[in-house]
Amino acid sequence: MDNSENNHQTHQKKLSTSAPLIVLVGFMASGKSSVAQALAKRWQRAAVDLDVLIESTARKPISEIFADSGEEKFRQLETAQLRQVLEDAQPGVIATGGGIVTREENRVLLRTAPKTLVVYLQASNETLTRRIRQQPGLRPLIDGESVLNLQQTQLRVEELLEQRAPLYEEVADFTLKTDGLTPSEIAEKILRKTDPLPS
Ligand code: S3P
Repeated sequence: MDNSENNHQTHQKKLSTSAPLIVLVGFMASGKSSVAQALAKRWQRAAVDLDVLIESTARKPISEIFADSGEEKFRQLETAQLRQVLEDAQPGVIATGGGIVTREENRVLLRTAPKTLVVYLQASNETLTRRIRQQPGLRPLIDGESVLNLQQTQLRVEELLEQRAPLYEEVADFTLKTDGLTPSEIAEKILRKTDPLPS
């Protein structure tokens, strides 16, 4: 058995026996959903995406929730789902929406949840802007009002990131710089850092 396989098994055992939740936070398009999938596959646990839960509860896409009921209503649904998944405490990975940290109530939930590791996936303004522009219309807080050009998107990302970066740091047990890494490389780094896991 080579070393990487050995490490793989050691990590899996630690993760399974400690049965924690790993919560991914970070800006829009920082890769939370794809990393959650990669991590869950590697760890053989479920991945839960809060945005998907919100959409299936509301029976409409997030862009429509924002358009029909406004951001405040979306935030209420988001807090309710966060509270629920943390209470359920099923071992697994939770991908959150980029604005989860904007409510103090959510930050307290994240900081105080037992056996829960919160990881901040950090990406540069350039990476985030490029990815957001590849999926136009998906993010109401960026391009919900009008179509933005590259510079306008970059400014919007910069503005929101400046407000939110300290909040991601506040709730995170650790931060990972993700530029240039694939979801499975990021998942691997998270597994390496979870030693020892919180008890
Ligand atoms: C939001 C991020 C989105 C989604 C909603 C609001 C935000 O999720 O929850 O559009 O405020 O940053 P992603 O981070 O998955 O894009």
